Amino acid sequence: MRKNIVAGNWKMNKSFDEADELVNGIMELLEKKELGKNTLMILCPPFPYLEMVSDYSNDSYFMVGAQNVNDNDKGAYTGEVSAGMLASMEIEYCIVGHSERRAYYGETDAIIAKKVDQLLKNDIRPIVCCGEVLEEREAGKQFDVVKRQISEGLFHLSAEQFKSLVIAYEPVWAIGTGKTATPEQAQEIHAFIRQTIAEKYGKDVADEISILYGGSCKPSNAKELFANPDVDGGLIGGAALQAEDFVNIAMSF
Ligand code: PGA
Repeated sequence: MRKNIVAGNWKMNKSFDEADELVNGIMELLEKKELGKNTLMILCPPFPYLEMVSDYSNDSYFMVGAQNVNDNDKGAYTGEVSAGMLASMEIEYCIVGHSERRAYYGETDAIIAKKVDQLLKNDIRPIVCCGEVLEEREAGKQFDVVKRQISEGLFHLSAEQFKSLVIAYEPVWAIGTGKTATPEQAQEIHAFIRQTIAEKYGKDVADEISILYGGSCKPSNAKELFANPDVDGGLIGGAALQAEDFVNIAMSF
């Protein structure tokens, strides 16, 4: 059975002390109320806080993920972080292809494909983001866009490799805007993504992949979103910065 996943993408937020406080807040709440058996929580802090959050994760309340990785092995890439470095710190997940990276740092599907390869080579599970911008949604092109992102970024992988992925569908018009996709919109496109995967890798592989929804997901709408058969959790931005909101979302299955 595929996992329900709630991943917190902290983006470029929090000082070290604030980050420490947030993890402690999450752990305190999880001590009082356990996550569902099939629910996995992943925290994705900024690079400098990975070790601190990882140290806490030894208590196995959650897994830890990075927010980005470089597409090269190693070398003269000032300011960058490799998959090998993350693996050497026992980081288990990494977000790839977030729409902010696509929009502000020119990440193409080809670069995303290389990043995914780097992560898989180092036994780190990629959380791969896809999703259309508002004009594409208004023109009814969301299915084409998502299909292109998934096939160009990921369809070079073997079925075995593909099974390590987590997919996050994040309509760009819903990220940080307070405008959430309706449960029907989310289910429609998640089912389409699963179907697209099934056509390439077969139904068994498609059924194993967790597909998360992202974009203004909060405690008040998580239940409705996660109740859909093809929505296996969420990639949470703003609401992941507040322990109670984030844990409430994780309890919404
Ligand atoms: P949001 O961000 O929850 O703040 O909309 C989600 C994301 O970008 O991963």
